[in-house]
Amino acid sequence: MLEISGLTTRYGGIVAVDDISLSMAEGQAVAIIGANGAGKTSLLRTISGLLRPASGQINFAGTGLTGRPAYGVARQGILMVPEGRQIFGALTVEENLRLGQRAAVARSTAPNAEMNKVFALFPILAERRSQYAGQLSGGQQQMLAIGRALMGRPRLLLLDEPSLGLGPSVVAQVFAALKALHQEGLSMILVEQNARLALEATEFAYVMERGRIVHQGPSVAMRSDPLVIDHYLGQAAGG
Ligand SMILES: Nc1ncnc2c1ncn2[C@@H]1O[C@H](COP(=O)(O)OP(=O)(O)O)[C@@H](O)[C@H]1O
Ligand SMILES: [Mg+2]
Repeated sequence: MLEISGLTTRYGGIVAVDDISLSMAEGQAVAIIGANGAGKTSLLRTISGLLRPASGQINFAGTGLTGRPAYGVARQGILMVPEGRQIFGALTVEENLRLGQRAAVARSTAPNAEMNKVFALFPILAERRSQYAGQLSGGQQQMLAIGRALMGRPRLLLLDEPSLGLGPSVVAQVFAALKALHQEGLSMILVEQNARLALEATEFAYVMERGRIVHQGPSVAMRSDPLVIDHYLGQAAGG
């Protein structure tokens, strides 16, 4: 479904994404783990068309996406839930969700059906639909950011650190929703510094260091891989 080969992205002299190749099948959930600064966000932003690669190819469902602008990538069905949520605090929950519809413009749209799905997934958003998004808790804002992307009917959802800054119980809620979406067949790429969570929610994982993929394999195998445990899962790995 997604095929990336030799992708390199720079900020001036800084190489943020360094010759990355990866592929994933439709319906898969793939994790990208790695320390702060490894290039995870830059990779997602390159796939999304927000950054233009210096070299390499991105193909999605038989279509070349390399160098397309972000709106063109979104119209192909690749939608991102950005790091830090980036919801509009001065708009209501419902207004934020309606903004997410735009990506689906070129495909079949049934906006109210989509909104009802989002509300079924995150009932708290239905309760707060008329409140300003800026008044939501961090966890609710993350739910809203995911909901906004779902409004665009993604074929591939890119999630950048959805657990960042959230407490354990709300993280569990958010990940339960992601697992449910995945079970319904949604393809996703999950970027996380929380490697344990990411490996539990996905089938395949890539480890990034300094812009490169240094390790890859089935998520379940990664969870018992000494190299991954040492570097990314810490002491609690055994328990
Ligand atoms: N806007 C930017 N301008 C210059 N350098 C950047 C910019 N954004 C990220 N970088 C650099 O690119 C590298 C990768 O960053 P990033 O993709 O944000 O990593 P991650 O998401 O894994 O933490 C880091 O060295 C970071 O300092
Ligand atoms: Mg990042």
